[in-house]
Order: sequence, then structure tokens, then C-alpha cells
Amino acid sequence: MTAHADLHDEGERLSPDELAALQLKRLRATLHRVYDRVPFHRQAFDKAGVHPDDCHSLADLSLFPFTTKADLREQYPFGMFAVPRPEVRRIHASSGTTGRPTVVGYTDGDLSTWADVVARSLRAAGARPGQIVHVAYGYGLFTGGLGAHYGAERLGCTVVPASGGMTDRQVRLIQDFRPEVIMVTPSYMLTLLDEMERQGVDPRSTSLRTGVFGAEPWTEEMRREIEERLGMDAVDIYGLSEVMGPGVAQEFASHKDGLHIWEDHFYPEVVDPLTGAVLPDGELGELVFTSLTKEAMPVVRYRTRDLTRLLPGTARPAFRRMEKVTGRSDDMIILRGVNLYPTQIEEILLRTRGLAPHFQLRLTREGRMDTLTVRVEARRETGAARRREAAAEVVRAVKESVGVSVGVEVVEPESLERSVGKIKRVKDLRDGRAG
Ligand code: DLL
Repeated sequence: MTAHADLHDEGERLSPDELAALQLKRLRATLHRVYDRVPFHRQAFDKAGVHPDDCHSLADLSLFPFTTKADLREQYPFGMFAVPRPEVRRIHASSGTTGRPTVVGYTDGDLSTWADVVARSLRAAGARPGQIVHVAYGYGLFTGGLGAHYGAERLGCTVVPASGGMTDRQVRLIQDFRPEVIMVTPSYMLTLLDEMERQGVDPRSTSLRTGVFGAEPWTEEMRREIEERLGMDAVDIYGLSEVMGPGVAQEFASHKDGLHIWEDHFYPEVVDPLTGAVLPDGELGELVFTSLTKEAMPVVRYRTRDLTRLLPGTARPAFRRMEKVTGRSDDMIILRGVNLYPTQIEEILLRTRGLAPHFQLRLTREGRMDTLTVRVEARRETGAARRREAAAEVVRAVKESVGVSVGVEVVEPESLERSVGKIKRVKDLRDGRAG
């Protein structure tokens, strides 16, 4: 039972030594479980010449093979399950921009663990039992809505399952129900903010005091924008379907210093994305997770493609933190040999006076030259002269900080497509690519 009074559950009270012992025990059990029950893992271990009994320490995990998104796709739909299908109580799936989606499964036990880690995350975010939580993550195969939902119920909150879309109604519900907490992608929060203003609702007058934002990268500059416009604490929640869903790691509202990884359930490593070598804590690389308690579909060394670094714990010293994920290798744009992430542009745009936080990146090819055009909305009050200056400032700032020339078009307020969930920042219009 969770002790609400001191805001720690059982797992959060473990000492570093107790945590390490528990992790090793759970890791060994997971390796045995998948070796015995999932042909994919047995074959992969055999091929790599390792056996679950070779794992004597947490460091020995590096002997075991990685699992990739492509591996999961090949096992579509149920090939990765480690329990008989009738024991799988729920399925989620990633949309998958190309080809087959990746399917994930949960037992009753997994759903309970998931609710526990999301409840823990919400508590860290500053939510408390009895508060109203407006969930505007999409409900459905996406893990955001239902994951947030059951976690908020587990914490003892009153949940409003708004899901994504019908933005005008969402604003009305927020006005009428007066939720203290909102769970939503940061890009959809911006859409909601604009809708509030359109309806003549002062965002700062709403009941919202805590925003739990994730499912897509967002920057410190975006945090400041949202916190100032709403008068709230905006904190980061991280997760991915293959590992669980939201609630793998969470930022504390009291610290706002990156996300504590719930290491009693998800064991993190950071590896060199090219060689796969494990990197020491503090170094930037690709985040890799091994499940420690998953029953239906444990993953072993799953390559997230998210780039971050591991840092020592603060609010919960036994758990390590991960730095805010600002880049995903899939989102990386290579422009004339220079690597660029959409968050680098976001940072610059939000620091530039007169520009709104709504933007899109368009990649085109002229002759043999790739060109990136940043299309960004002006704020309502920004006049023509300031728009021109702002555009020139952005061109200069991108050249200085990223080292590449981009085009910048400052467009009319409310002219770019709005997000209702995870936003797609880059439109790739090169050579018949659909974007
Ligand atoms: O997005 C789970 C989730 C839902 C997390 C709601 C937080 C809130 P997927 O659809 O499988 O699951 O996408 C996972 O989204 O590998 C990251 O690239 C990205 N992502 C998730 N959270 C964050 C975050 C959900 N806080 C993929 N910051 C991950 C940056 C994030 N990227």
C-alpha cells in the first residue's frame, strides 16, 4: 500500500544497495523467463553464445544481445509474448509510420505495475490523491491515454478521460470541472492554450496547476512558455510502448532537473549508437532498456533510439536520472552533412521576440542541394518590420549554433496545422517523399 503521507512508495524507499540486489534478482529472472518462453530470445542468446546463467552481475547484461524495433516487427503480432495469449489482458500498438505496427501485451500483473509507476510519476509531478486529472493523451492503441488514466486512478485522483481532439470542448471541460492536473503532449497543450485565448479564457485563471507533458521532445524554452502562460508547473514524463508506456521515467516538480528512471522496473543503459558499446554514466548516447518485472512481453536491451545521458539521482538518490530527451536518432535531419534536431530550432524560435511556438520544418531539394525551411508563426501583436527582423535573427542564430544555413518564413498566426497528439515537425518533400 502506498504511504501518501511521505510521498514514497515501497520501491522509492530502497537504498542503493537494496535496489542493486533487487535489480540483479529481477534481471536474472527476466533473462530466464524469455530464454525459456520466447523462441526469438532463445535463438538470439544461443547465437550470441550466452545463457541466462552467465549473468552474475548487472554489468554482465552487456554480454546479451540487443533487441530492436525491427525484431519486434518481425514477430508481429504475438511472437514476443512470454505468456499464453489468454493471459494477455491488454494489447497496445505503436502506429508505425511505415510497415507493420509493433504490438505489445500486458498481463493483469503488468497493468498493475504500470498503474503503480504512473501513480508514482504523478506524485513526483506534484499531483495528489483527490485532485482532478484531465487526460488529453489519445485513448486507443497509443499507450498515452489509458496509461495515464489507470495511473491517475491508482493515485486516487478523479480522472476525466478527455482523449485528444474536440479542442473547444476540452477548454469547456477544463472551465467546468476545474482539474488541477493536465496530462497531454506539450504540442497539444499549445493548441489548447490558443483555443482558451480564442474563447476569451485567460489561461492563468484556469484551475490547472500541474502539467505532465511527454510523448514527444520539448525544450526548456517550451517549458518556460507553457509555465508562464498557464501559471503552472510543467514537468516531463517519458516512456515508450515497447517498455511499458508513459511512466518509465518522470521529472520531479520540486527539482525540474531531468527525469528519474524507475529503475526497480526498467534497467537503463546508454550505449554508443554506432558500436553498441556501453558508455559510462554522464556520456551522451542511445538509451537502452531491459524490463525487470514485465510478464507478458519483457524486453532485453531494447534500443530506444532516444539520445540522452544517465545522471545521479537527486530527489530519489537510489534512482538515476536521464537528461531530457531532446533528440531521437529517427528525427535527426542531416542537412549538407550537418546533424540537426528539431529541438535545436525550437530553442532558437522561442528565444526570438515576436515569434509564436508553432513551427514546421520543410525539407526540399533544389538540384542536388537539400534545403531546410523553418516556417514559424508570428505572434498576433508582431508587426511586419519585427517579423522581418525576427526571421533574420533566426537565420543568424541557426548558422551560429548549428553551423548550417536555413531559410526562415514567418507566417500568419494560426496558419500552420495544429497538433492534437504527437506532433510531426518535419515535412520531407524531397524527391517524391510524402513528408
Ligand atoms: O509516447 C508513451 C508516452 C505517452 C510517454 C505519454 C509519455 C507520455 P510511444 O508512442 O511508443 O510511447 O513513443 C515512444 O516517444 O521513444 C521517445 O522518442 C518519445 N517520447 C516519449 N516521451 C518523451 C519525452 C509514448 N518525455 C517515443 N521526451 C520515445 C521526449 C519522448 N521524447
